[in-house]
Amino acid sequence: MLSKLNELEKEITSFGVNSNETLEEYRLKYLSRKGLLAQLFEELKTTDKEQKPVLGKKLNEVKRLAESKYDEGKASLESSAKKSEDIDLSMPGRTSSVGREHIIIRTLNDFCRIFQNIGFKVATGPEVEDEFHNFDALNTPEYHPARDMQDTFYIQNNADDTKKYVLRTHTSPVQIRTMLSNKPPIRIISPGKVFRNETVTPKNYFMFHQVEGLYVDKNVSMKDLKAVLNYFVKMYYGKDTKTRFIPSYFPFTEPSGQLDMSCFICKGKGCKTCKNTGWLEMGGCGMVDPNVFKAVGYDPEVYSGYAFGMGIERFAMMKYGVTDIRLFYQNDIRFLDQF
Ligand code: PHE
Repeated sequence: MLSKLNELEKEITSFGVNSNETLEEYRLKYLSRKGLLAQLFEELKTTDKEQKPVLGKKLNEVKRLAESKYDEGKASLESSAKKSEDIDLSMPGRTSSVGREHIIIRTLNDFCRIFQNIGFKVATGPEVEDEFHNFDALNTPEYHPARDMQDTFYIQNNADDTKKYVLRTHTSPVQIRTMLSNKPPIRIISPGKVFRNETVTPKNYFMFHQVEGLYVDKNVSMKDLKAVLNYFVKMYYGKDTKTRFIPSYFPFTEPSGQLDMSCFICKGKGCKTCKNTGWLEMGGCGMVDPNVFKAVGYDPEVYSGYAFGMGIERFAMMKYGVTDIRLFYQNDIRFLDQF
């Protein structure tokens, strides 16, 4: 009988009580009136007198073990049941907000993707530039009146460095860097931040984003420029979008143009966004000035090229009806979440 008791003790210890059903099964098997323990108590009555005290003691121990395991199992099942009663299943869940690309970066990437699909490579450069890349090589030497076209932030300089540094006023210096380290043909798009010392208003900020394009090869003409920009506006705004060029001036292109597109809101009929003209200004463009080619060591008699530049914020403001440029940079989630 002692070995039976030892066996039973092990069995009880390892019995898994994890539900109301298993608890009841356990009770019936060991603790009920017809359970194993009751049977052993019956058996005890008929054992030798000498062995009785030892067996009785052991049997009582096993019984206590069985009962305490039952009590514990019951208590733990009851407390977990209570916990699940406390949960209000009708309560709306807490949603976690998901981060995403800022609307300006998304617009920038959308632009780049369209050009990448037709063979343009993305090129980037530093935001702190020297005057050579930002101005001189772009046919805008120190006393050139066109320097005043862009209000420039100058950077305080180390005494032993004779170069002057600026926060780049456009991403055109990336064109210079690319041409200096590569041979034609060149087909790049340069997205990024640019800085101008402008009074901050709902329309102007001292920093904004640009995407510029450059294509250099033999026999590149204005026809190619017009074709690629037409392709872009149709891809971005839809098949019936038109473009037009208006003569303009940039020191680094000749001839230069202002690129307009038909208003995507009123489709050219005239509305508030296009100030009833039917046209929206997109940016500047033109054929690369021979002086720019000379500055990077390309022969202007052999190569020709076009360049264009567009401001991202203007686009995004028109597209999403944002009336104050500063909203883009305040990082107010309520604003950013709308896109
Ligand atoms: N860099 C010019 C600007 O920032 C835009 C431009 C780029 C114009 C390329 C012509 C050609 O205003």
